[in-house]
Amino acid sequence: MKTVLCDARAEAVLARLDEQGRQQSAEMRRYYDAKRESAKRTTDPASKHDMDFVRDKLVALDPEKCDLCYTLCRAIGARRVVEFGTSFGVSTIYLAAAVRDTVRERGGEGIVIGTEIEPRKAEIAAANIAEAGLSPFVEVRVGDARETLKNAGGPVDFLLLDSWIPLVRPVMDVMAPQLRRGAMVLCDNVEKYEREYSDYTSFVRDPKNGFRSVLLSHQGGLEISIKLG
Ligand SMILES: C[S@@+](CC[C@H](N)C(=O)[O-])C[C@H]1O[C@@H](n2cnc3c(N)ncnc32)[C@H](O)[C@@H]1O
Repeated sequence: MKTVLCDARAEAVLARLDEQGRQQSAEMRRYYDAKRESAKRTTDPASKHDMDFVRDKLVALDPEKCDLCYTLCRAIGARRVVEFGTSFGVSTIYLAAAVRDTVRERGGEGIVIGTEIEPRKAEIAAANIAEAGLSPFVEVRVGDARETLKNAGGPVDFLLLDSWIPLVRPVMDVMAPQLRRGAMVLCDNVEKYEREYSDYTSFVRDPKNGFRSVLLSHQGGLEISIKLG
């Protein structure tokens, strides 16, 4: 799989996960089509039934968005990266590769703090990250991110929000004070689920809250926000 990483070992793992994700996407399409047909479809992607269904699914960030995460992390020299929603570790691999490459180039230390509420997913993520050779740059915290992220261990350079929508704003409330000046925050799918994300977008789009924010209208939309002084 060709990515911006230029890392054959990581790309082999990503290719396997991409294939697994494609198979699961077909299954997910059938699931949501059936729901629509039976008029039970809800726009709330975090409903109990949906949560059960996606419990063992990758629902990984799109490769282009992962490439962008890598590139932005490299651009700002990110060393402390936090991710809300690790799943099987796809985006984590990109983030960890960025931190590793920054450390290789400039020396010092760096870490990606992943968060995953499903212990089995966290185990699988750890195995995938190890296979990609990136374990020294990742710590996956198992549990509810609203708790596990209360102390990220220092000023955070980059935050990826890619998880269940109703929890994104509460996690942002935990993380905002821990972001360094100039930190970047990426939040996925804000256009596709515009209404559901309104509590989050109204926060980051209001300069009074200390952020400047833009929407990248691509594949469901990606909100990119910068923490100001
Ligand atoms: C969209 S997936 C993340 C995909 C991942 N970023 C990737 O690219 O592979 C969202 C993940 O968030 C996890 N999650 C849901 N609620 C959580 C919570 N309260 N704390 C931590 N993780 C949670 C889910 O189990 C799921 O695996």
